[in-house]
Amino acid sequence: MNPFAYHDGVLHGEALSLADVAAEFGTPCWVYSRAALESALAEFHAALHGVDALVCYAVKANSNLAVLDVLARRAAGFDIVSGGELQRVLAVGAQPDRIVFSGVGKTADEMAAALTAGILCFNVESAAELERLDTVAGHLGKTAPVSLRVNPDVDARTHPYISTGLKENKFGVAYAEARQLYRQADRLANVSVHGIDCHIGSQLLDPAPFAEALDKVLLLVDQLATDGIALQHVDLGGGLGIRYRDESEPSIADYLQPLLARLAGRKLRVLLEPGRRLVGNAGLLLTRVEYLKPGAAKNFAIVDAAMNDLARPALYGSWHDIVPVTPRAEATAIWEIVGPVCESGDFLGHQRALALAPGDLLAVLSAGAYGMAMSSNYNSRPRAAEVMLDGAQAHLVRRRETIGELYAGEQHLP
Ligand code: LLP
Repeated sequence: MNPFAYHDGVLHGEALSLADVAAEFGTPCWVYSRAALESALAEFHAALHGVDALVCYAVKANSNLAVLDVLARRAAGFDIVSGGELQRVLAVGAQPDRIVFSGVGKTADEMAAALTAGILCFNVESAAELERLDTVAGHLGKTAPVSLRVNPDVDARTHPYISTGLKENKFGVAYAEARQLYRQADRLANVSVHGIDCHIGSQLLDPAPFAEALDKVLLLVDQLATDGIALQHVDLGGGLGIRYRDESEPSIADYLQPLLARLAGRKLRVLLEPGRRLVGNAGLLLTRVEYLKPGAAKNFAIVDAAMNDLARPALYGSWHDIVPVTPRAEATAIWEIVGPVCESGDFLGHQRALALAPGDLLAVLSAGAYGMAMSSNYNSRPRAAEVMLDGAQAHLVRRRETIGELYAGEQHLP
C-alpha cells in the first residue's frame, strides 16, 4: 500500500497533510507510516500462511524504536548485526528467541551480550568466528545456537556495493568449505548446529537468483543429513527490492512461491530477513527549498536536506522520486536538487522537472530504508527529526538533534 497521496492539491501521509507535518516538526524531517509498515509485514505473513516461518526484520534498514515497536507488536522477529541493534530490539521488548544475529565481525562482547539475552541463532560467517563463539559460550557456560551463512556464489544482479553472494564478496562461508565447517561445528562443545543461512544481496527485483541460491543451500542440507547433521531451519536472508522509479517490483507472494515450493515436504522452519521491503516505501524525507540558483549550465535548487541525511544518491547513484508537497501550476524547469554540504556529490536528485519557488516543500520518496539509518553529522549538521504517522495522528519518534549534542562527548585540551 502507498500511504502517501495527494488530497485537495496537497501531499498527505495517511490522513495528514505533509505541509502541516512540516509546520509542526520542521524540516528536514523523516516521515513514516505505521499503516504501511503493518501492511508490508502482513503481506509477508499472508504469503507464509500455514508455513512454520519467522520474519526477522533487518534492523539496519531503519532502527528507530517506534519502527521496531510497530513490527514487534505484529509478531516480527529481528535480524541484528551489532550489540547496538541488540540493545534496541530488547528495548522495545522483542522476544530474544525471535532474534538472529548476522554480520562478519561480531566481537566477543557482542557475542556474550547475545548469548546472555538468549537469542534464537547466530549466523556465523567464518571458521574463526565459529571458534571465537565456542570460546565465549564456554566461558559463559552456555551453548550457542548457530547457522552457517553460506556464500552460494550466485549473481544477484544488483548494485555491486549491495551484492553479497558472490565468492569475491567478504560474506559467508565459501560454499565448497561449508560442509567441512559444519562437521567441525558439530564437534564443538559449546555450539549447537541449528540451521543454515544465506543472503545474496539487496534490492533484488528478479526472484530467480533467490531460487538459485536456495537450490544450492538445499543440496548442502541433504549432504549434511548424510553426515548425520540434521538442520532445523533455513534462513533465506533479505534482499527483496522495491519500486524506486519505474521498476516492477515482484509481489511478496511471487518472490516466496518458488522458494516455498522448494521447501515443501521438508521439515525445515523458514526464516526471512527482509529490511527494505518492509520499510522502504513506508517513509519519505521532507525538505524545504532554501534557494533557487538558476544558471547557464544547470539550475540548482538548494534544499535543507543533504547527503548527510540521505546518503544513497551520493553513495550508489540511487534514484529517489522527488515530488512537491503542494504542486504549482506554473511551467516546470529542470533542476538539480542539492543540499548545503560542501561536496559536488551532495545531491538528492539530478535533472528533475519541477515548478519551484523558494520555501517550497519537497518530499523525497522511498526513503524509509537506509535513510536515517545511514545518516551522519557531516558538516556538523544535526540529524533530522523522525515522525510516525498513525491515521490522523503524527508522533515525534525522534526529536531533531541539537548542535550541542553533536560535540557533547568532545573536550578541549587541558
Ligand atoms: N540480511 C543480511 C545479512 C543483510 O546483510 C541485509 C542487508 C539484509 C538482511 C536486509 O536486506 P534488504 O531486505 O534490506 O535488502 N545500504 C544499502 C543496502 C545495504 C544492505 C545491507 N544488507 C542501500 O541503501 O541500498
